[in-house]
Formats: sequence, structure tokens, C-alpha cells
Amino acid sequence: MRLTILGGGGFRVPLVYRALLADRGKGRVTHVTLHDLDASRTAAIRRVLSELAEGVPDAPEVHATTDLTEAVTGADFVFSAIRIGGLEGRAIDERVALDEGVPGQETVGAGGIAYGLRTVPVARELAKRIAEVAPEAWVINFTNPAGMVTEAMSHYLGDRVIGICDSPISLGRRAAWALGVDPATVWLDYAGLNHLGWLRGLRVEGRDLLPGLLRDDDALGSFEEGKLFGARWLRALGCIPNEYLHYYYFTREAVAAARAARQTRGSVLIEQQRRFYADTGGPALTAWESVRLEREVTYMAEAREASGVGERAPGDLESGGYEQVALALMRAIALDERTTLILNIRGRGAIGVLDPDAVVEVPCFVDANGARPLSVDPLPGHALGLVSAVKAVEQAVIEAAATGSRAAALRAFAIHPLVDSVAVADRLLDRYQREHPQLDYLRGRS
Ligand code: G6P
Ligand code: MN
Repeated sequence: MRLTILGGGGFRVPLVYRALLADRGKGRVTHVTLHDLDASRTAAIRRVLSELAEGVPDAPEVHATTDLTEAVTGADFVFSAIRIGGLEGRAIDERVALDEGVPGQETVGAGGIAYGLRTVPVARELAKRIAEVAPEAWVINFTNPAGMVTEAMSHYLGDRVIGICDSPISLGRRAAWALGVDPATVWLDYAGLNHLGWLRGLRVEGRDLLPGLLRDDDALGSFEEGKLFGARWLRALGCIPNEYLHYYYFTREAVAAARAARQTRGSVLIEQQRRFYADTGGPALTAWESVRLEREVTYMAEAREASGVGERAPGDLESGGYEQVALALMRAIALDERTTLILNIRGRGAIGVLDPDAVVEVPCFVDANGARPLSVDPLPGHALGLVSAVKAVEQAVIEAAATGSRAAALRAFAIHPLVDSVAVADRLLDRYQREHPQLDYLRGRS
């Protein structure tokens, strides 16, 4: 099995490779190709991977290239994990939004739109090339904002592109632990868009344990989302939101905490990763240190601060993130092992209010034929409202990226539920255009 990683010089590639090394089953990955435009980053990562592979029999062979066609030709699976504009771009996304008093997160609100406007044009080109030279490959998209980027790629790849995120399964796992049940035995009734979904049920042997969890203050106080949102709000809502919904339900607090912090999440990560991609050209950390550092990095830092949640539980960090979701998906497709996973794919009516080609995040049936969304209970009105509004934003970004229309980009900012004025939207777009050279393409008047 041949796997190509686009963004192969990325900081999280060692985690993926470590998961591949642990996979001893049949049909496992034997060849890994790292594609990155920056050869010095892939060189640093390669050194880490060879250190991880030491002493492991039949470790997957690693190649690196800066040529996209060469990278994807012959691939069975392509992981896309790119970051257009780098972490410097992310820090700008966050800072500009916060300066305007609106949330600046890499996937949510104005920050997510800016990041999408930079990334979607590139993702479209990648998808086009893969469709030409590797039409049989399955593309697994990690690139954020994952829902929007997956939808843009699906215009060329259809259901051969599948977006993944670890947050739904991580929420389900934490809720199961809080109930004292084995996460492997629960059915998660989760639906929405990427980073905008709700856990509405948690069933074990036909019984829904969620109502009991919502009544139990102690259990709710024992895990991430319970602390982040508070028992009272979760009971009033009647379900458990994805942690990224903190930006919607506690907007002012999240903005105030982020503005009070010395650094944004992006600038914290720049500092951390500088130690890794050291000026000497080689990794300044050993492989194991780099993997550990990545695990220790607690994401959603600002939201956690705003709600006084504290550090993430160690067990939570160790049970595996998106690399495990990716591996599970790859195995199910490659080995025709039927399973269900929460994935980002064209909804085909799974969420009735959206057009059938809109990418949604729902439980999917997966086998050698790929992923098929399962039908889920209708979302409640409050969730449908947010999902439709945010999907309209995502589609405006995709339209702007496809046509170069500045008007579509302005519309994306202005209709976002977290941007409270068209005047703010206009200033945001102006400043992002000044600070991001990648947005020069937005010149079209209509
Ligand atoms: C979670 C999210 C991902 C995100 C990651 C790291 O796993 O689901 O989409 O990339 O956190 O976030 P960070 O803020 O640390 O870059
Ligand atoms: Mn995610």
C-alpha cells in the first residue's frame, strides 16, 4: 500500500508515521512519499522518521519529493495536510480578527474565512491534479478548515475525498469515560459540520445514556466539554456541543480572553516549532521528544483559558488523535473492513436543509467502496440555523476562490454569525488582503 502525504514536512507527520509503524496487519502501508514545497522541512522530518523506524522490521520506506505529479502517481491513499501561509499566516488570521473584536481562530469565524480564502485555491489545484494523475486514489483531507476544504476538493474528486477530524470521536470518548463505559461499545449520535456539531445521543445496547449524563453534575464536571460549557448550559441545550462551539456560545468571553493573552495560538506554535525546525537544518529535538511535544500541546488554548478549564487530561492526550482516525479509515477502505466513523463527506440529504453536495460531518458507513453518510435524526432548530449560516459562508469562500470575486469574499465575512457588522467585514477583508499576499487573486468586482 502506497501513501502520499501532502504537507509532508509538517510537524505532525511523525505521529502519522508512528501509527503506521504500530500497524502490523495485512494490507499495511509499505511506502510513504512526503511531498512538500520546502525540501528542508521534509529533510528534518525524514530524520525524525528514520529515528522512529530504528529497529522496527519492515518499517515503511520513505521518499521525499517537491514534485506533485511524481508524489501522487501510483498512490493508493493521499493525505492532505497543508498549511498555506504557514503558522505566520495563522498568527495574522488570529490577530487581525481579534483587533476587530471578533473571534480569530484558525477554523472558526473571521480567522477561518481568511485561512479558507488562502487554502481553497491551492486545494482545488491539488484535487484537479490528483483527479488527473491518480483517479483511483482515496484522498483523506486533514487540511483545515477541513469541512470547507473537503467540499472544494469534492468538486473534482466527488466522494473520493473524505475529510477527517478527531474532535467528534474525542468528545464521544470523553463522554463515555465520564459514564464509566467502554468507548468501543457506544453508538454516537453526532451531526453537524466540521467543528460545528452536536452529540445528541450516546447509545449502548439500545439505551441512550446521554440524558443521565446531562443530569449528573459530577460526571459533567469530569471532562473537557462539561467544564467548558458548564452543566447548566448543557442541560438547557439538551446535548453536548463540539468544543469549538465555545466560540459561538461564549463569544465575548473567548474574545476577551484571547485579547488579554500575550500571544495567539499561532504565535505560541511558531515559538514551539522553531525549536524543532532548528536553523542548523536538522531537528533540534529527538523524534520521541517531538512526538511528546506535539501531544503536550493543548489546543483550543484561548477557549480553555476563558472558561478556566485547566490542562487537558493526560489520558485524553494519549489515546490518539486524528492519525488514528486516518488509519482506521484507510484500513476500512483498503481491507474492506466494514465500520462506522464520523467523517466529512457530501451529505446527500443527511442534513435535510443543506444541498446534497454540501459536505457535512456525520456518522458514515465505510468499506472498500468508501464512505456513505448514514441518515441521522433531524438537527434541532438552533443547530440547523448555525449549520445553514456557516455552510453559506463556506460556499461563499469556495465561490470566491473559484472566481476571484471579492464580493463573494466580502459576503463570506459579512454573513458569518460571529461577524457583527458589514463595516467590520469590509475592514477585515481589506486588512487580510494587505497582510496576506495569497489573497491578491481577489480582484473580481462581482
Ligand atoms: C484538534 C482539531 C484539529 C486541529 C488540532 C490542533 O485536533 O480537531 O482540527 O488541527 O486540534 O489544533 P492547534 O490549535 O493545536 O493547531
Ligand atoms: Mn479538526
